[in-house]
Formats: sequence, structure tokens, C-alpha cells
Amino acid sequence: MNAKALLLALLASVSFGAFAQARAPVAPEVVVYKTATCTCCKLWVKHLQTSGFSVQVHDVRDLKPVRQRVGIPARLAACHTAEVGGYFVEGHVPAEDIKRLLRERPVAKGVTVPGMPAGSPGMEVRSGKVTPYDVLLVANDGRSSVFSRHGH
Ligand code: CU
Ligand code: CU
Repeated sequence: MNAKALLLALLASVSFGAFAQARAPVAPEVVVYKTATCTCCKLWVKHLQTSGFSVQVHDVRDLKPVRQRVGIPARLAACHTAEVGGYFVEGHVPAEDIKRLLRERPVAKGVTVPGMPAGSPGMEVRSGKVTPYDVLLVANDGRSSVFSRHGH
């Protein structure tokens, strides 16, 4: 093999490698909308990242239009809104619940942890105490049901 043929073979294998990598299944990216000053939102983003998610963050002034677009009723709102795999994720939802959502793919709009319960991911307290909270699944008709329970 002369030098030119060797170079071509090398280039071919490199581009094939890149192609194979691009085709490997990856967890869908989580797109997060939050306000710039929200600290617990940043901690939740970190929680997702350490749990293996890649996250795209958008700082917005007002979350209301985002919630309206994805269909989150005001009574089920929290401090940030995310989208992943066609679902919304509102508030401090644990990464494990998002993984389960993407695995089971229920017919629904998304999941939410309304308010900001102490001890949920990104809302950890020094004592380690978890205020009992539920992750709610929001159906296409807006009705919610318990998806998972935490700290009970
Ligand atoms: Cu928060
Ligand atoms: Cu938040």
C-alpha cells in the first residue's frame, strides 16, 4: 500500500467511525426554560446532568407563555419548565422519573412536581429531610394522576 492509499483508508475509517457514533442511540436532550436568577433551577439542571442527561438551558423572563404552549395548568406549575421526548417536565422532577417516563411512554402531556417541595432534586436541605411529594402525570385532557411518590 502506498502512502496515498494508506491515507485514503485512514480517512475512510475515521469517517466511518464518526458515522457509527452519530447513529448510536442517545438519551434525548432535555430543553429547560428557567429564569436567570433561579438557583434551585440550576441545581436541578446539575442533577439531570449527573444523572446522564444532556441539557439545553434557556433563560427566559416569563415562564407563563412556555407553560401555556406546552399545556401546564397554573395550579400544577413550579419554578421551571422542561421538554423532553415530546413531554413536558415541570418543576423538581427526579431524573429517575424522567427516565421511566421515556421508557414507558404513557399517553400524556407530561409530568410535574407542583410547588417546590423541600428535599426534591435541586431543593435539598441540610438535614436531608424530604417533605413528602408526588410526581403527577398530566393526561391529554389536563387531568392529573400520581406517577410516583417520594419521601412518604
Ligand atoms: Cu425550584
Ligand atoms: Cu426551577
